Amino acid sequence: MKLVIPLGTLMLALLSAPVVNAAVIYAGQERAAAVCSQCHGIIKPSADSVFPSLAGRDVVYLKAALVQYRDKTRQSELMNAIAGSLSDNDIANVAAYYATLKP
Ligand code: HEC
Repeated sequence: MKLVIPLGTLMLALLSAPVVNAAVIYAGQERAAAVCSQCHGIIKPSADSVFPSLAGRDVVYLKAALVQYRDKTRQSELMNAIAGSLSDNDIANVAAYYATLKP
């Protein structure tokens, strides 16, 4: 019995990491599909689009850009307005989602 408990705990620790990531990416996908895709495309914008592609960009870069738009340390009328309504969680979710897409 003593062996079963630590083993179970270990299994849970091993299993929970990928599950959390999948949940984060899924939440990001929902938000991206509803909001971001209007300009940035469902996966990426069309080749002649004026909007930058986010697919496959570095997750740290994406998060930093969104925080800067939210803080208005990076200026863009559109993105300042959009990022203004994002929580830290939303930013982590959409950044994780776009980072997983193939550029
Ligand atoms: C109404 C159109 C519009 C929507 C909707 C929109 N964006 Fe943007 N986004 C832009 C524009 C325009 C830029 C370029 C702004 C600039 O010059 O910095 C941009 C830039 C960005 C950048 C910086 C890219 C880079 O190359 O540095 C990120 C990251 C980003 N958007 C994320 C998002 C996310 C995440 C969402 C959804 C929550 C979103 N955007 C929704 C118009 C939009």
